[in-house]
Amino acid sequence: MARNFFIGGNWKMNGSVSTVKTLVDMLNGFSIPAGTEVVVAPPALYVDRVRQQLKKEYGVAAQNSYVKASGAYTGEISPEMLKDIDVDWVILGHSERREYFKESDEFVGQKTAYALNAGVSVIACIGEKLEERESNKTTEVVTRQLKAIADEIKDWSNVVVAYEPVWAIGTGKVATPEQAEEVHATLRKWLADNVSKDVADKTRIIYGGSVKGSNAAELAKKENIDGFLVGGASLQNDFLTICAARI
Ligand code: PGA
Repeated sequence: MARNFFIGGNWKMNGSVSTVKTLVDMLNGFSIPAGTEVVVAPPALYVDRVRQQLKKEYGVAAQNSYVKASGAYTGEISPEMLKDIDVDWVILGHSERREYFKESDEFVGQKTAYALNAGVSVIACIGEKLEERESNKTTEVVTRQLKAIADEIKDWSNVVVAYEPVWAIGTGKVATPEQAEEVHATLRKWLADNVSKDVADKTRIIYGGSVKGSNAAELAKKENIDGFLVGGASLQNDFLTICAARI
């Protein structure tokens, strides 16, 4: 089953007016390869300007959104507001949100359902910590996180699942293609067994954690790796090499 390749650039809490402009210029000067979709996620403050300045071939994502359209929820932004500025994507359940902001599996599931209902596509992140991998709990953790999302949603057509082992994020310690493929295959089988064969075949499962231009092509060869969520390297020219990893 041919799934379009998907590259997400997660800028996290990085950038300034000037570096955002440099990144937008870099992206605007690049031709996205056919069969690849690229979505970048600036900090909330810069999302609007990036959407206005970036060419339309790129998607733009927020890094978080809430479960209400509007109201007294200081500091939050709603999927409806993202739609209002033509932003069609949001990253939800990133391990940094789970760890530092105590977002539970259930809350991530609810936020995913809410964003999808509002018409915003979701990059839904899951992944185990080092101690969980070392105690052979990887499958248990990632399927628990995926189930919490599956429990809340019916339509998977606007969901990309990002498998991001926490031990590989920002550490320079990338999962081997075999390690990543093993988990991706497990996740796809879980979707086939618990949601449907069709959803399992069509859903992009992307890998995140220390992806660079130098390791992307090897990872991209694996059958169940449908792209990447890129943190650090998305702030550099190297991101363009990653975007071209499947050619
Ligand atoms: P990294 O981050 O590429 O810097 O490891 C990935 C992510 O957190 O999405």
